[in-house]
Amino acid sequence: MTSASEPDGSADTSITGIDGAKGLLTYRGFRIDEVVRHLGYEATAGLLLWGTRPGEPAARDITSELRLRRQLSPSLLRVLESLPVDSPPIDGLRTAVSAMDDVARVYPPTAHEALDLISRSSTVVAWLYHRSSGSRAREPDPELGHVANFLWMVQGTRPSPERVRALERYFVLLADHGISASTYALRIVLSTRSDLASAMSAALGALKGPLHGGAPPGVLEMLDAVGSVEQVEAWIDGTLERRGRLFGFGHPTYQVEDPRATLLREYARDVASPERYALAQRFEEVALQRLARRRPDQPLFTNVDFYGALLLEGVGLPRPLFTPTFALARTAGWSAHGLEQVAQNRLVRPPERYLGPAPRPWTGPD
Ligand code: ACO
Repeated sequence: MTSASEPDGSADTSITGIDGAKGLLTYRGFRIDEVVRHLGYEATAGLLLWGTRPGEPAARDITSELRLRRQLSPSLLRVLESLPVDSPPIDGLRTAVSAMDDVARVYPPTAHEALDLISRSSTVVAWLYHRSSGSRAREPDPELGHVANFLWMVQGTRPSPERVRALERYFVLLADHGISASTYALRIVLSTRSDLASAMSAALGALKGPLHGGAPPGVLEMLDAVGSVEQVEAWIDGTLERRGRLFGFGHPTYQVEDPRATLLREYARDVASPERYALAQRFEEVALQRLARRRPDQPLFTNVDFYGALLLEGVGLPRPLFTPTFALARTAGWSAHGLEQVAQNRLVRPPERYLGPAPRPWTGPD
């Protein structure tokens, strides 16, 4: 029997390794800085799903498979058209994942369903964006890769190589992060022998919260509220005094800087406006200083969302799409975890630690 303090195996994984003390993140054993330097998003998805790299004998190039799966079915479009125009796109994406009638709902799920979900989700997000802004959704462009096509569908112009490179790096860095809250939610659903689409809609529900995937828009709202480099110190001090949280700082896993934050700090510079970047740098400097002073024994560090938000703004994505874009990147990791979960499936039922009253006699009222 497993006691409450022992791991029950539900978080066992061979996909992404995290050493929070050393700030080390690996996909299938390869350091994240190497992965992002050598692989685009499709190849990263292949690495996460099957542990193979392009050129290796068993490697599967999913670029063309994703391209073939971009269209949305008429019945899915009818469901999306029935949603309130102003509903957050992350809710629309979660609904769409539940309503995709052309994605099989079988147990165990296969790579086919995973590729359907990865590919169609990006068309859904672009479609929802155009609907909410009253414009016309762009048709997917078969000439473009997964990330460039997403930018094209949202922006309606051929994206510059600089923007595609930046967003591709973001997608690679956000593609997986071990047993995060959303991934755990996905694995719990699949452990009941449910299907991948149901599990991914649970993951989207978990990702939506501001302590997880909902943080990136909060970063920009914070920078907007600060306004200028001169206001940074007063704004941060006031927020911390009110026990407010600074978005983009702290992480439950890392005791040093998140390695993705280190890389995104550099990549965001390529696309952010110089004024925005200077404000963010000053904000980060003061925030780290104040957070370390408040809890010297447990200093907090910049997390993936701080410069991630700047990068998303720099490539021209609108804020309501920040969390959905995080979700699109994560569909690869969720899929890999889904396939891993069913390959070693056991029902996830954490050992409960009961803290309520001991059994007691029922005494009146009758
Ligand atoms: N700003 C100010 N104070 C903070 C922050 C922050 N960003 N993060 C933690 N603290 C403080 C808390 O107020 C708390 O203080 P208290 O003990 O005086 O009440 C203490 O640090 C511990 O907070 P926890 O929430 O228990 O710490 P944990 O490490 O579990 O939290 C989390 C991690 C949720 C990410 C937190 O740092 C946070 O809220 N950050 C801001 C939101 C954010 O950036 N989220 C994205 C994270 S990346 C991802 O997807 C998980």
